[in-house]
Amino acid sequence: MIASAMGVVLSSLVAVGLLLLAPEPPGFDGDSCARLQNKLDKEVFGQQAAALQFSSAVCDHLWDQEPLKPLVLSIHGPPGVGKSYSHFVAARALYNATSKAESNLLFYDKNKNKNKVKPPECPGLNCPGYKVVYGLDYTIAEGEAQSQALINKLMEHLTRYKESVVVIEEYDKLDCRSRGVLKQIFDKGEAANATESLKRSVFLLESNAGYGKIAEALVEAGGRQDLVDLEALQYTLKNMMFALWQRDGCEDRVDTVKALSLIDMFVPYFPLSRESVSRIMSSAIERRVAALNAERVDRGFEGRVGVRVEQRALEFLNDRIEWDGSYAVEGAKEVSTVIRRHVFGLLYGLAGEEEKEGEYELDLDEGSGKVVLRKKG
Ligand SMILES: *[C@@H]1O[C@H](CO)[C@@H](O)[C@H](O)[C@H]1NC(C)=O
Ligand SMILES: *[C@@H]1O[C@H](CO)[C@@H](O)[C@H](O)[C@H]1NC(C)=O
Repeated sequence: MIASAMGVVLSSLVAVGLLLLAPEPPGFDGDSCARLQNKLDKEVFGQQAAALQFSSAVCDHLWDQEPLKPLVLSIHGPPGVGKSYSHFVAARALYNATSKAESNLLFYDKNKNKNKVKPPECPGLNCPGYKVVYGLDYTIAEGEAQSQALINKLMEHLTRYKESVVVIEEYDKLDCRSRGVLKQIFDKGEAANATESLKRSVFLLESNAGYGKIAEALVEAGGRQDLVDLEALQYTLKNMMFALWQRDGCEDRVDTVKALSLIDMFVPYFPLSRESVSRIMSSAIERRVAALNAERVDRGFEGRVGVRVEQRALEFLNDRIEWDGSYAVEGAKEVSTVIRRHVFGLLYGLAGEEEKEGEYELDLDEGSGKVVLRKKG
């Protein structure tokens, strides 16, 4: 099976070989690492331990001018706690681009962007090396055809972009053959010439697998991420993946051990505490206010709107989320729903009228038990 998988890798490579003649696409630069640390720190809430491991692994990899293999991180945790958001932030940071929303805001804000140059966006043309693949799209149902599609897609991408950030979501759901192909790609030796060009790339394998164990480890550490024994947890996650892969019967034990050894680090993402959800909620409201102001600029209004969120309004919004003890059941997934239900309408009301400029506070009205917006002063 390995030999045949390798055959496909090499032939796919020949097929896309011509792409190598194109000019060098944007890759990482000297500031990629600094931007990564900064952005993960500022934009991914409640995952200090994961952010630190993630950025140390990537920065160390970029530091090495001639790494022996691409960097492979296996990222685990419950849904909604920032795994996908992290790779989105990471891609923007590594390729020195910004989100579409942020780019639009800067573009429309005359004061901040006098030259009217649209800042580079990611995902988009400015970070072509960033690619997200969904493991669920490549499961056994359609067998060979799907693995072949995965191989083609990845090889074309990797040949074209030497400094790629490739994310494979729901990695644990890939079928044996697709996983075999990935193993070839990760391993420096096997597909020698095929991997030569992609050693500087970063692979992020994501899955929800192991989140019970991650939650347990956090509870054992009294809820403090900084007290979790990350090495012990890495060992636990690795063993769990071993059991999972052996159960599928894809390969011999030795090959599974080898496949696991190609993963450089297991990075756990933890369930979100109330404090973290609060910060995510505040930042989500801030983004809506920014969008509201962008809309006002768009309509040619001069004055802006400022919104201060009072603590009791924030508490009320947090209470609308489902909690299991100290942790949010769905992570931050419910934040948008809560904002749409209780806050969006209030903000939207300020978008369409010039005279609604000024400072507001978002507060809880004790009488009606509803979130309200009051003009200050
Ligand atoms: C990153 O982007 C900013 C703004 O687009 C630019 O000023 C800066 O020079 C870029 N940094 C590098 C290292 O290219
Ligand atoms: C790899 O490339 C080198 C030179 O570019 C060539 O001599 C060698 O045969 C290639 N190996 C494979 C397995 O294609």
